[in-house]
Amino acid sequence: MKKSIMVTGGAGYIGSHTVVALVEAGYEPVIVDNFSNADHTAIKGLKTILGFDVKLYEGDCTDMAFMRSVFAAEKDIVGVIHFAAFKAVGESVQKPAMYYENNLDSLLTVIKAMGEADVSHFVFSSSCTVYGQPESLPVTEDTPKQPAESPYGATKLMCEQIIEDHCKSGAAFKAVALRYFNPIGAHPSAVIGELPLGVPANLVPFITQTAAGIREQLTVFGNDYDTQDGSCIRDYIHVMDLADAHVKALSYLDEQTNTSFHDVFNVGTGQGNTVLEVVGAFQKVSGVKLNYVIGSRRPGDIEKIYANADKVNTVLKWQAKRSLEEALCDAWAWQEHLGRVKA
Ligand code: UD1
Repeated sequence: MKKSIMVTGGAGYIGSHTVVALVEAGYEPVIVDNFSNADHTAIKGLKTILGFDVKLYEGDCTDMAFMRSVFAAEKDIVGVIHFAAFKAVGESVQKPAMYYENNLDSLLTVIKAMGEADVSHFVFSSSCTVYGQPESLPVTEDTPKQPAESPYGATKLMCEQIIEDHCKSGAAFKAVALRYFNPIGAHPSAVIGELPLGVPANLVPFITQTAAGIREQLTVFGNDYDTQDGSCIRDYIHVMDLADAHVKALSYLDEQTNTSFHDVFNVGTGQGNTVLEVVGAFQKVSGVKLNYVIGSRRPGDIEKIYANADKVNTVLKWQAKRSLEEALCDAWAWQEHLGRVKA
């Protein structure tokens, strides 16, 4: 019998790619999504890739009665991967209460419903944002966490703390928090990918939309940082590699004999690239000359961050396999697919 995994936010960007990785690894994913920040594009794309309809429950993770009903209907669920959260840094500054309420309440409700249903395995979507601007690079999991720059970042810090405390309480709960660096790219089929609503805040969707003529030009936010070309450095990771890390995290939780267990991992490539390097790599793989200008620094941006991935490499036995170029190629194929769908 297949093990079922609940994927909250499974209709979203990282969630939908993780659904593919779960099926490839022999799990049965059960998507829970309220479609507040997604439409049914990913659900349709998943059917194209997988050849069947993934189980889907439409509802809100903060709704205890709804969560109970899903666990009651899906008795084979052995674990939860919790993606469902608001994630726009800028919006979180405008609407902090909405971010705290949604991101904390959904975590607490999911944990409570898991307890009632005797489900112990939990994988949480965290972020390298918990490190702020670190004093030394690359960052390891022991690099001190810093006060958040935004309510979004604060929810990630608080959620990590809640998970850790819950484990320390002796609850039958085994959890891994994955601190993502910058996920980019799309499934190679180009039928699922990142689908920003409105003007994209993140670099790669902004690049592909500019190349497609949807945006007039890309602004590179600052070229006076202390880096090789003056633009910021990030660790860009292919979303399919990131998806695989969730599957490895589940196997790792299986191996743990203690009933309460907690661990955290950086999930990055270990390589930092500047914004201008990403722009250059995109132009190379797409053959499109990108219209871009250098603008001023974006408030709140950190200068540089990239992962030390030793722990995830050795303990989870996970390695980033795909290059920056491959990720940009897949992101561009996805953008072109969207153009064809709209045409
Ligand atoms: C942010 C969050 C991160 C979150 C991620 C995805 C922080 C510190 N980081 O990452 O936690 O997981 O968003 O939502 O809060 N850039 C441009 N022009 C653009 C867009 C971006 O030059 O039009 C530059 C940025 O200055 C940055 C890099 O591209 O140097 C990456 O930016 P972005 O994709 O927005 O991600 P982060 O800000 O790193």
